[in-house]
Amino acid sequence: MTPIKECLIGKRTDINPIWLMRQAGRYLPEFREIRKNNPDFINLCLNSNLSEEITLQPLNRFGFDAAIIFSDILMIPYGLGQDVKFKKNFGPCLGNLDVTKLSNISESDFTNNLSPIYELLGNLKKNDKLKNKDLIGFVGAPWTLLVYMINKVSPKNGLVSNFFSDISLINNLLKILDKFIKVHIRNQVNAGATIIQIFDSWSGLIKSDFDKYLYDPTLSLVNYTKSLGVPVICFPRGITDYSQFCKIVKPSMINIDYDVDAKNLLKSVDIPIQGGLHPEILLTNKAHLKKEVNKYLEIFKDHPYVFNLGHGILPETKIDMVEELVRIVRNYK
Ligand code: CP3
Repeated sequence: MTPIKECLIGKRTDINPIWLMRQAGRYLPEFREIRKNNPDFINLCLNSNLSEEITLQPLNRFGFDAAIIFSDILMIPYGLGQDVKFKKNFGPCLGNLDVTKLSNISESDFTNNLSPIYELLGNLKKNDKLKNKDLIGFVGAPWTLLVYMINKVSPKNGLVSNFFSDISLINNLLKILDKFIKVHIRNQVNAGATIIQIFDSWSGLIKSDFDKYLYDPTLSLVNYTKSLGVPVICFPRGITDYSQFCKIVKPSMINIDYDVDAKNLLKSVDIPIQGGLHPEILLTNKAHLKKEVNKYLEIFKDHPYVFNLGHGILPETKIDMVEELVRIVRNYK
């Protein structure tokens, strides 16, 4: 059994399992080299040979316990026919939202649009480098995808003022997303994903109607993934009550963000936990890194825990700090 699977069934493992969110990305020179020659990010995600190489880059260097496929949560709006572009030094830009067009797309059109992602998983499944490691497929949660599809750009400066003006549009989109996110989960599982992670990067922006935007849609995906026999990790970044989330949604494992009081959370959560370390700690120095990493390892020493960050690794991160992180985690007794 893989170290992460052991953790998921509640066992303490000999090695402390570790992987990092956004482990395949811009902090790696070998990724930047490929990216330089592939200016169109969506096309890169749809190139199953290059995306396989990129997925394996962090494993080759650091020996992490899981590969997470090189793809993006915005491949779902793309697969549904909304235009998605990534602008340099700006981030994603989505095109017009035509709900009639979205409502008419069939499951097979959607699956065809995203087929290189499933080919990627199929190829990785056969790769010896993933022996005794997990292969993580992922989706964005309905709320976070709704945010990008309506807001069109990252909401880091807030949601557009008319975000909630058309409730029937929102209700329609939530239904469409529930259906197609499940199709994407099922396709990834059929192609070889051994774990699914649900990224709800903007759940911290939900201020009311938590059932409608957070709990109900996530629970629906969690139950669906479990029904396929695959564990599911949730990352509801920035929410204030992780304990309530775990009680209602019951994921197989919860990924905490860096604002979570880990010690306090342990009092009320009994499922396996992943993550927590602030990615900025990797920009400091080795002594500070050791102190901060040991804090998490100490708190979770008697709890099933997978080491990870409290959000994605930053592009400025130095390789030798990641090497040091892996050494600290592996050597901790
Ligand atoms: O984790 C991995 O290594 C696998 C690949 C992965 C990417 N995006 C590749 C990527 C995963 C799991 C994601 C998830 C994702 N994408 C999320 C959820 C996690 C999170 O960070 O909150 C979100 C919100 C997105 C949407 C997205 N994609 C944004 C906002 C951006 C631009 C800003 C940024 O962080 O770079 C992307 C681009 C993106 N996705 C890059 C990579 C490697 C950078 C592409 C580049 O410019 O070279």
